[in-house]
Amino acid sequence: MNTTAYAYNAWYPLAWSRDIARTLVTRRVLEEDLVVFRNEDGTVAALEDACPHRLAPLSLGTLRGDAVECGYHGLTFDCSGQCVHAPGMARPPASFQVRSYPTAESMGMVWVWMGKPALADRSQVFHLREYDDPGYSVVEGDALDVQANYLNLADNLCDPTHVVFVHKTTLASASGQETRVEHERQGNKVVTWRWVLDGPLIPVFEGLKNFGGNVDRWHYYHYHAPSVAVIDFGSAKTGTGAPEGKRDDCIQMYACHFITPVDQRSCVQHWLVLKNSPSDPAIDARLRANLRLAFDEDKRVLEAIQRNEDKPRQWRRIPLGIDGSSIKMRRIVQEMAATDE
Ligand code: FES
Ligand SMILES: [Fe+2]
Repeated sequence: MNTTAYAYNAWYPLAWSRDIARTLVTRRVLEEDLVVFRNEDGTVAALEDACPHRLAPLSLGTLRGDAVECGYHGLTFDCSGQCVHAPGMARPPASFQVRSYPTAESMGMVWVWMGKPALADRSQVFHLREYDDPGYSVVEGDALDVQANYLNLADNLCDPTHVVFVHKTTLASASGQETRVEHERQGNKVVTWRWVLDGPLIPVFEGLKNFGGNVDRWHYYHYHAPSVAVIDFGSAKTGTGAPEGKRDDCIQMYACHFITPVDQRSCVQHWLVLKNSPSDPAIDARLRANLRLAFDEDKRVLEAIQRNEDKPRQWRRIPLGIDGSSIKMRRIVQEMAATDE
């Protein structure tokens, strides 16, 4: 099995904010098990899910105020990981501790810092400006368990060329198979883009706007290493100047993918979409269903690739020009992982 080094000093998506309340839940990130809960002041606590006495998972215990009481012998740890109560002891020693992880919330997600706590900077948590723009509405999706290495999913999210083959009924139109793909590294981000000029509207855009004919369509895949992808995609009436930046009358969406690497062969894909049209229960439900269908199409391919990768044999792969952006993305993750040490 191929293994990839993890970049620890980074903010990772942990859970939807809506799923974290005053109960103990578990999440697995970079092969570490966490117990997660919301404190009384609304902030989120994440602790290592193993009691340092005999390693009983703290998630089997009880939340008392902002502290977790171990369900085995009652050692109790506050949200900073410090033991604040030990049955039979007047005062537990300061060395009784469990690891705690910095958290933050942004875009309806809880984010967790898996590296050195002193390096956690909440101003660096991912946030897209349009999320707060009243001209946009949010369609919050779900969380797909993908049985594949998260960088294989990242490859997919740096790659507009698979769309016409994998997403025939959702994100693709008949045109666009041969149009040129460009990419560029910008700091710890890779942007990959392609334009399809003078083609039909893609199926998921149908009903959102009537352009009365063909459109110019763009896809800009922004991959923020290690685990955030934002796909800026949209359409405007052909010949109205969209490629030059004139997009006053267009369908504009941002598909945001927040990937939690679970271990070497599984990850969780949280997704939401921002669109430049108001919320509408019927349209939003249809969009959510269509996008879920599309992301399931990716999941099916990626899980099958993972099963091949897991076979005990040496594969020879053919590199293609279209792999340039995912090669750069993986290099960035490697660089981030190397600087963790
Ligand atoms: S295992 Fe937690 S108190 Fe004993
Ligand atoms: Fe896809």
